[in-house]
Amino acid sequence: MPGSLTSPDDLPSGSGFRMLLLGDVMGMAGVKAVTRILPDLRRDWGLDFVIVNGENSNGFGMIPESATNLLRSGVDVLTGGNHTLRPSAIHGVLEKNPRVLRPHNLGSATTPGRGFGVYESPGGVPVAVINLIGQVFMEPADSPFNAFDTIYAEVSSQAPLVIVDFHAEATGEKVALAHHCDGRASFIGGTHTHVPTADARILPGGTGAITDLGLCGASDAIIGMEPEAILGKSRHAIPSRFNPARGQVHLQGVLAFLDPTSGKTLDVLRVDLPIP
Ligand SMILES: [Fe+2]
Ligand SMILES: [Fe+2]
Repeated sequence: MPGSLTSPDDLPSGSGFRMLLLGDVMGMAGVKAVTRILPDLRRDWGLDFVIVNGENSNGFGMIPESATNLLRSGVDVLTGGNHTLRPSAIHGVLEKNPRVLRPHNLGSATTPGRGFGVYESPGGVPVAVINLIGQVFMEPADSPFNAFDTIYAEVSSQAPLVIVDFHAEATGEKVALAHHCDGRASFIGGTHTHVPTADARILPGGTGAITDLGLCGASDAIIGMEPEAILGKSRHAIPSRFNPARGQVHLQGVLAFLDPTSGKTLDVLRVDLPIP
């Protein structure tokens, strides 16, 4: 059973390439928490690469300022989801900055941005990051299974480490894609539900996986949003503006230890850090 890190003072032991993946960053509170803690965490935990899902950093969507602040704080790649294409101010960032991704199998050939890239870690190890979105209980998208196969064929010769952010609602679809990637991807982390799952594991072919990384946002909330408006909609069908909640923030995700030679996951620890 994988262990967990519940404080920035928990110094992880273990060998391998240290890859931190964090779940959806919610609102300004989430952005502030990540940008405040990540420089120290990068140093103290000896992180080699950091991937964060930024689709909710402006509540619904991401604005250029949040992308800039997250990248400057030590995020290597920002992934996205169903909210990434709004507001339109982010379109230019998606076009110009290869470190900001949107799901590759979403939209068409003219949709702004891209869904994968090959990056060099600060230590010189090439890392491929692939961002995909699910088809179950989501808006229309192309097959994430076929998209993975096509992208993997292109990037696998360029990078020994291949990381997938699979942004999807249905746990069954997420576990299915994890098995589809097993033996090819180094790690696949689910995003979108904002609720972390307890199934961090290494699959038979050596691919590390977790169905959902969780949330970087207020914990006393409904998936990061103020409860009142969501309860009003759920109970009385009255639509109102949803705002990111304030209060105690948790950063949730995983720390994966990867073998840069074989591309396999050696170990994985869940991360859930309360940030004052
Ligand atoms: Fe989200
Ligand atoms: Fe989402």
